[in-house]
Amino acid sequence: MRIKDNVAARLRELGAELRRDVSLAEQTSLGIGGTTDELLLGHYDSIPAVMRLLADEKIAHRFLGGGTNVLVADGDLPWIVLHLPHAQPGMRVEGNAAYVDASADLGGMVTFCAKHDLGGMEGLIGVPGSVGGALRMNAGAYGTQIGPHVREVELYRAATGKMETLRGSDIRFDYRHTSFAPDDVMLRVKLELPSKPFKEVLAGIRVCNEKRRSSQPLNQKSAGCIFKNPTGGSAGRMIDELGLKGHRVGDAMVSDRHANFFVNTGQARCSDMLQLMDEVRERVRRAYGIELETEVIVWQN
Ligand code: EPU
Repeated sequence: MRIKDNVAARLRELGAELRRDVSLAEQTSLGIGGTTDELLLGHYDSIPAVMRLLADEKIAHRFLGGGTNVLVADGDLPWIVLHLPHAQPGMRVEGNAAYVDASADLGGMVTFCAKHDLGGMEGLIGVPGSVGGALRMNAGAYGTQIGPHVREVELYRAATGKMETLRGSDIRFDYRHTSFAPDDVMLRVKLELPSKPFKEVLAGIRVCNEKRRSSQPLNQKSAGCIFKNPTGGSAGRMIDELGLKGHRVGDAMVSDRHANFFVNTGQARCSDMLQLMDEVRERVRRAYGIELETEVIVWQN
């Protein structure tokens, strides 16, 4: 989608930087995605005005965080992509509270907190992506989820057109799912973390890094696990047991390292990845009677 020049000028007046015809394949960890205009927001306070303008002009849009858990459609995309201001994402610690901008890198936040002798999030160290994405999905790994540490979230509510602050206790954090509305925009979070000496946190981080390195295809293009684990089961183990490691559609392939990671081995298209997901889902349904739920967010037209 191409923003008209007169609208582009008004967006610039609001401090946003417009980039034309950007390839989302270059902005996602899967290396898949078509092209569209991209808007980098200048400051948080401008968000309501920018959103109002986009609504008035009927410009469809999506916020892209770290791009690590999203499968984007191919071709000319019918919506623009927005990025939160992230020249210098803010992170601040006060006692056991950490205040972090949503555009901050999740791993960066874990180490920042560690340096202030705050722990509890060691398991999240290797989860790629932004803090905002982690909040929205309730990211988790190795027994840690972000949700239980959340005390407050500041967000932009498209439904009301306003910035709002929600208490952690008013948000539902389930397994890879939260009660945020799809068009809520995460802005900042306040976390409460247990005190832990830096050295101890670091030791925990090392253990998680090692486990991840030994079981996941970290040097290949992927979006992490493609399916959620069914209650009491493991999507990766089931797909592996069906002998589907290495199974491919075009350049989209079931990783031969971890069967719930689908990797882009070259020039995979979104349609290849979707077909691979369908084929694997069908095989698991037939063999186990279980319908796998997609974990990765799919942005189709
Ligand atoms: N397994 C196999 N073959 C495989 C992969 C796994 O047999 O190809 C077996 C393992 O041996 C193990 C079991 O399946 O017995 C579970 O595997 P693993 O420990 O790798 O964890 P997972 O359930 O597959 C989950 C999360 C990961 C997270 C890890 C570590 C989901 C969908 N996945 O994976 O998160 O990193 O635990 O905590 O919940 C993600 O969300 O994108 C993600 C990668």
